[in-house]
Amino acid sequence: MLEREAKLYVQRNPKSKALSAEASRHWLRGVPMHWMVDWGLPFPLFVEEARGVTLKDADGHSYVDFCLGDTGAMFGHAPDAVTRCLAREAARGLTTMLPSPDAVEVGKLLEDRFGLPFWQVTATASDANRAVLRWARAITGRSKILVFNHCYHGCVDDTFVTADGGKVKMVEGLVGEPRDLTAFTKVVEFNDVPALEAALRAGDVACVLAEPVMTNVGMVLPAPGFLESLRALTSETGTILVFDETHTLTSSVGGYARSVNIRPDGLVFGKPIAGGIPAALYGFSADVADRIQAYLASRGEGRSGIGTTLSGSRIQMALIRTVLEEFMTDPVYEANITLAKRLERGIADVIIKPGLPWHVTRVGARVEFMCVPKPPRNGFEASQAIHKPIDEAVHRYLLNRGVVVTPFHNMMLVCPSTTESHVNQFIEIFEACVTELQN
Ligand SMILES: Cc1ncc(COP(=O)(O)O)c(C=O)c1O
Repeated sequence: MLEREAKLYVQRNPKSKALSAEASRHWLRGVPMHWMVDWGLPFPLFVEEARGVTLKDADGHSYVDFCLGDTGAMFGHAPDAVTRCLAREAARGLTTMLPSPDAVEVGKLLEDRFGLPFWQVTATASDANRAVLRWARAITGRSKILVFNHCYHGCVDDTFVTADGGKVKMVEGLVGEPRDLTAFTKVVEFNDVPALEAALRAGDVACVLAEPVMTNVGMVLPAPGFLESLRALTSETGTILVFDETHTLTSSVGGYARSVNIRPDGLVFGKPIAGGIPAALYGFSADVADRIQAYLASRGEGRSGIGTTLSGSRIQMALIRTVLEEFMTDPVYEANITLAKRLERGIADVIIKPGLPWHVTRVGARVEFMCVPKPPRNGFEASQAIHKPIDEAVHRYLLNRGVVVTPFHNMMLVCPSTTESHVNQFIEIFEACVTELQN
């Protein structure tokens, strides 16, 4: 199937093929961002247009998009409220390195939606994570951080460490890193409370940076009580707890942790928060804010090393306001989640009928199937469950028949433009694919 679908893809996409050849003359790996070629396709699909849930490629095909830019377009591509805001505000200035009046309302909305009082804007979630690690180290005076095995928090150097086989080492394939990152990063398995406790009791960890549900190695749910233990242990050991909700923002207004009543010291998210233009946020508690103020008052003159010129720009603030007002609302989430449940049930039926040893998981509007019978309990188990040839065969099959899912694993996201008929279309094609895979 892998080979046949690759051939079909080549036949169907002569314009993308020609564009790819041309682009290779000037772009590294032929694309403006080098992992755009990592979709398991013979050459990248060139997208002419993305509106709502529909992608149109250079060869004139239309696709139902369940990848949605891996969450960057979580509220749909170019939704009207966002394009109206852009048209209205762009002519009045994009960036000034000064605050705009929207800052006042956006601050209030952020506290209302996420429950934390103080905020900062960055250009990407990777930047936001880097900033929170710096602040946490500064205010605790501790150098180490802790992450969970097989986490992903963007291109944040400190986090590229794993503990597979019990040995802490830098992740395979890391490019150009001259430092030994293991000197500053502790790694434990998600859902392993004793290991977490042992790592934190030393009292040398500034910050635990964690997704409340792991979403970048398939999906790993927190075991009952795990997030509560994480909260209790970080509090007892004076460790700052930061939840990276960049992906789990799909679970409910305010993110996953808020929906299960766990209050972190800091929160990070980016991707869809300005409707798809680069912007991210980090928020922190009043206690952390006081400690930052005290730290700043005591430090000498000089560059903080935190912040970039385009962060907090006029256009980011206007778009963040629009997204918070128009999309981060209960009715929008309820509609998405209802449809995501339908997608989850449909996939489960397709898997159950032939008795495949696979399973499907859903967190809010985010659905993931994995080719193992039971949900993994931690990052290591999840990493072992990824079956690249099956994933790629399925992705190619779906793409050649008009449906896009996230590359690297099997994530599907429902947005306000997704309809029941899109979901039915997906299930029908997925069923045909699974039937064929079995024969
Ligand atoms: C949980 C999480 N945090 C942070 C990031 C980084 O986002 P960006 O690539 O927009 O910096 C990602 C990207 O996939 C992510 O999944």
